[in-house]
Amino acid sequence: MDIFRIEGPVRLSGAVNISGSKNASLPIMAAAILAAGKSVIKAVPQLSDISVFSQLLGQLGCELTRSTPLSAVADSKGGDLCIDSKVVDNPVGEYEIVRRMRASICILGPLLARCGRAEVSMPGGCAIGDRPIDIHLRGLRELGAKIHLKNGYIVAEAPHGLTGCDIFMGGPFGSTVLGTANVLMASTLARGKTIIESAACEPEIVDLANCLTRMGAKINGIGSPQLIVEGVKQLQPVEYQVIPDRIEAGTFMVAAAITAGQLRLVNCRLNDMMAVVDRLRNIGVTVETAKGGCVVAREGPVKPADITTQPFPGFPTDLQAQFMALLSLAEGNSIVIEKVFPDRFMHIAELNRMAANLRKEGPVVIVAGVNRLVAAPVMASDLRASAALVLAGLVAEGTTVVNRIYHIDRGYEKIEKKLNMVGAKISRESDESMTAEFISQISERVEK
Ligand code: EPZ
Repeated sequence: MDIFRIEGPVRLSGAVNISGSKNASLPIMAAAILAAGKSVIKAVPQLSDISVFSQLLGQLGCELTRSTPLSAVADSKGGDLCIDSKVVDNPVGEYEIVRRMRASICILGPLLARCGRAEVSMPGGCAIGDRPIDIHLRGLRELGAKIHLKNGYIVAEAPHGLTGCDIFMGGPFGSTVLGTANVLMASTLARGKTIIESAACEPEIVDLANCLTRMGAKINGIGSPQLIVEGVKQLQPVEYQVIPDRIEAGTFMVAAAITAGQLRLVNCRLNDMMAVVDRLRNIGVTVETAKGGCVVAREGPVKPADITTQPFPGFPTDLQAQFMALLSLAEGNSIVIEKVFPDRFMHIAELNRMAANLRKEGPVVIVAGVNRLVAAPVMASDLRASAALVLAGLVAEGTTVVNRIYHIDRGYEKIEKKLNMVGAKISRESDESMTAEFISQISERVEK
């Protein structure tokens, strides 16, 4: 377990390359199960979540190899991941892996379609709130799977294959991203036509659908809430490049904004980020398109703004924490409403330790703007909360120590290197020094 030691305040300036999308890579890696043979997925970021998912595919019987061409290292675009799924003879998602990464659930649909059977450990609790998978299971049942729970494992069976039908995928918080991915993948090999209503429209689902189409799937309505899938007998392995990571891009946009700096983001698709760009402009940040990406800068004050997270094309929940760090420094009060994961607020207490003024009332947070943030030792609780703490550390006066940064390594490729290249002062250190320092700071506080 490493820590980040961040010296602030800094003003960022320069160019940052955005990596391939983690949340597009994971379901696309699962899709490789559907077609026996070697698929090559390009621009897959080097992240611990990708390593865990690779291990999972390995346990199923796939062979995975990574090759990172020099150009990919230079421009931070990850590398090629070759998945040979000729053999998938152990259709079991073990508890040991699923408990480390909930996204493991997206092997369920492809395994069922390919093997007629799947056992996947039921995902448990999560730092960002309740994350049921009832809609995934409902969709797969409607395709004809028999599903029961045994010793904490979901056992799904369809020995005679799946059959297309009309499926409604909406839930209490709107559409489901990985639920749509699971049912979409399963339906590509089902008999007949499947209509998925209230499908997720996130760019990562569009990317998955485009990849499946390249594999030979017949999908209409890609990018809309109604996906129409004509089942085919088999799919072919594919060579496919994943889209840039819109959440990493959004995080660097906030980095430029919070430090009153200027960043050019390379390999960034603004069309995937209209709600984010709209909020940034509202806050007083300029965002302009540039070749292959955009330039983001702030000169004036941070203006207060209201943000409501929603499924795509609304404002993404995965950028809520980072924007909260930015709005902490606004000249006035902002309101943030979380409508996707109403309990995703673990960062509030930590940001308040850095002198932010955040008050939570259910899924609503009142952000009273303050003049400055102050460095403190803080604890990362989940991936995006950690990113918010790093962003706050860039402008906080003094040395911020972010503990448990393994969370950030799950989803941000070389984040401290990328930030340091544009003016940040972040060092990665081992936990022992942190423990000693943390203990001494705590005992100092206790003594005082
Ligand atoms: C995906 O999670 C992402 N993960 C999350 O990113 C992201 O926050 C989330 O979508 C929302 O955009 C990956 O792509 C790997 P959902 P997912 O099913 O698919 C409820 C990150 O930081 N729901 O769209 O698991 C659910 O509780 C991560 O990179 C049900 O009620 O999220 C939530 O309120 C974290 N029943 C809402 O739907 C279900 O069966 C949306 O969740 C499924 C979901």
